Amino acid sequence: MKKAGIIGVGEYLPKRILTNADLEKMVDTSNEWIVSRTGIKERRLAADNEATSDLAIKAAREALENAHLNPQDLDLIIVATITPDMAFPSVASIVENFLLAKKAAAFDISAACVGFVYALSIANQFIVRGTYKNALVIGAEKLSAITDWKDRNTCVLLGDGAGACVLSKVESGGIISAYLGCDGSKGELLNLPAGGSRKPASHETVDNRLHYLKMQGNELFKIAVKIMTEAARTVLRQAGLTFKDIDLIIPHQANSRIIMAVAKRLGIPEDKIYLNIEKYGNMSSASTATALVEAVKDGRVKKGDTILLDAFGAGLVWGACVIDL
Ligand code: UT7
Repeated sequence: MKKAGIIGVGEYLPKRILTNADLEKMVDTSNEWIVSRTGIKERRLAADNEATSDLAIKAAREALENAHLNPQDLDLIIVATITPDMAFPSVASIVENFLLAKKAAAFDISAACVGFVYALSIANQFIVRGTYKNALVIGAEKLSAITDWKDRNTCVLLGDGAGACVLSKVESGGIISAYLGCDGSKGELLNLPAGGSRKPASHETVDNRLHYLKMQGNELFKIAVKIMTEAARTVLRQAGLTFKDIDLIIPHQANSRIIMAVAKRLGIPEDKIYLNIEKYGNMSSASTATALVEAVKDGRVKKGDTILLDAFGAGLVWGACVIDL
């Protein structure tokens, strides 16, 4: 059976750079603490008049160009995001309108930092079953819109950006295996308390800063290492491969210490791990997406290579995916 493969990639990172030195002037932190605890040196911030869809559209245009496809060739658009422009319509609908992708079905998915891996897996199903030919998958976030700039526990970690890829039925290569999971019992470790139907926006929710992301970082750290290690092992087992078959692991970029702890547990050398957290921080669904795009653009991977995406995030959710490029 023919597989769904990546035929084009694109990204967009906002121009504005926020350095650790800038953050030192905003909260009680230091460049030394941020670099040693997270690996982050700077992150990008969208402009006030830039929303998630603006980032998504720019990444999408580059991916389509790279794939030599017109928007009219698209049958499906999936945007993974936890920071949509508004509750509805979806970011995917806004992207469809701007691209004039008239033939495409379009929807968003919410799987936090694993959103891009979930979305790839969903698009893969549609293509492999023959329902659709060409799908655009985007991970896009404006996390700065839900960041509490007074909370040093979280504001030093997050950034904005978008990554996209075009999937199509391919003659060789493609998505070999995907593994997705969830443990909703730990949802309280990372959430955005207000602004939904449980706690609609009110003066009280605003006064209590409940429209900002809340995180129990230390607890999450330990779970993340365990989950990402298990997810990588499981997806490889499903694929009938071993780590020797993998040319590059592209993990979710939450913290370089998490990533290196996973690599150590798996017995993988550091040069087989892709990192861009230093430049961008944690961009949730856009992290794995831009890391994949930049690994291709940088020439870290080439046609014929096998990559493994590995992510975890709020939910808690996790997902891993093996792809032959
Ligand atoms: O994308 C998926 C979700 N994200 C994650 O899974 C993130 C997972 N967690 C982490 O990456 C790490 O737990 C953090 C980077 C968030 C925190 O690092 P840590 O090594 O776990 O630090 P900690 O939370 O144990 O805090 C250690 C100390 C505390 O001070 P005391 O209580 O020891 O006096 C914190 O108050 O560091 C303090 N601290 C800071 N100090 C300077 C916390 N944030 C900062 C800061 N600057 N920005």
